[in-house]
Amino acid sequence: MSIHDCSIIDLPRINDPRGNLTFVEAGRHIPFNIQRVYYLYDVPGGAERGGHAHKALHQLVIAMSGSFDIHLDDGQSKKTIHMNRSYYGLYICPMIWREIDNFSSGAVCMVLASDYYDELDYYRQYAEFINDAVKVIK
Ligand code: TYD
Repeated sequence: MSIHDCSIIDLPRINDPRGNLTFVEAGRHIPFNIQRVYYLYDVPGGAERGGHAHKALHQLVIAMSGSFDIHLDDGQSKKTIHMNRSYYGLYICPMIWREIDNFSSGAVCMVLASDYYDELDYYRQYAEFINDAVKVIK
């Protein structure tokens, strides 16, 4: 599990002069079953979200509207992805520290998640995450 396993998934697009349509099917377009959907919205300028990692959760992040940056860190490598299309999903595997910033005005960040909310699945402290991430990489 590294940032190389986190990639942009090009979701199906049904282009239509009445408006475009995109859909996501669990197990077909993304490698997990969807148990939860949540979204960030009304994000004030300059705000940062994320700042945590998950032990077992798989997620797909979609910029439903507007744009933002996602910074990924697996304990060894880092990369930043600019999200600005509602037909691209960023798959984030477990054991990845993520931070989200640079939200545009009106941005909506939707997340499809493989499990229910569980605070015990979080690393909230970067030092604790790095400690365990290094063990996983070894
Ligand atoms: P958190 O995941 O820390 O947000 P961020 O995107 O900034 O990392 O969640 C913020 C708060 O919302 C925290 O108190 C937990 C709560 N929360 C839920 O109750 N259910 C959820 O599905 C999520 C994602 C968060």
